[in-house]
Amino acid sequence: MRKTLTALAFALIAASASAETLEERFVTCQGCHGEKGQSEIENTPSLGGQQAPYALIQLFMYREKLRSFEPMNEIAKSFTDNDLSKFSDLIAKLPKPAPPADADWSERAWARLRGLVTIRRVDGAGQSAPEAAVNAAERSLTAGDLAGAVSVLDPLTGPPAEAARPWLQMARQRLAVEAALHQVEGLLVVRLGAAR
Ligand code: HEC
Repeated sequence: MRKTLTALAFALIAASASAETLEERFVTCQGCHGEKGQSEIENTPSLGGQQAPYALIQLFMYREKLRSFEPMNEIAKSFTDNDLSKFSDLIAKLPKPAPPADADWSERAWARLRGLVTIRRVDGAGQSAPEAAVNAAERSLTAGDLAGAVSVLDPLTGPPAEAARPWLQMARQRLAVEAALHQVEGLLVVRLGAAR
């Protein structure tokens, strides 16, 4: 990995040797660190959201080999003090990286909805309408019936509807994709049948 990165760094430096403006030189950096401040390469830090003084110190340390990582040391060794500060200013202007994709997102949306509609009841009291809807939706989901869950949550109003909205949106998108796939599948079957 290190060897490949070093080779890549040299290739990139060579390619950018004729580049003039700082922005043009920065393209080299973005080749590894990501175009919009967010790295897509494993073990390569995202630069977006880093403060200029922090970046400046890191670049200085790479130049002076106080922080050791061959490709970065190689890149920084010819930097002037002015380069260091200009690059840091550019880094500080990058957008912050997006938070990591949240696998539990739909579960959290669901928990929030449940928290909103579940009202502490004294024994014997019936369920509130939203609570009954969420319970019914949960039963539908357990049975693998996404469309059913959507149809019972759809009539919700007020804060529970607000809480359910992102989840419903996602569920509807998924249903639409499934319907489209189904349609494509049908078309393919017809075509393949005709080709025979
Ligand atoms: C070949 C890929 C590559 C290129 C090109 C590259 N970097 Fe890096 N950079 C890295 C890696 C990998 C690290 C983390 C190294 C380590 O562990 O110290 C790093 C670290 C840094 C850090 C420290 C980040 C932190 O979170 O501490 C800064 C700042 C930085 N690079 C700026 C730049 C700038 C500015 C350029 C262009 C002039 C550049 N890099 C070009 C791969 C690269």
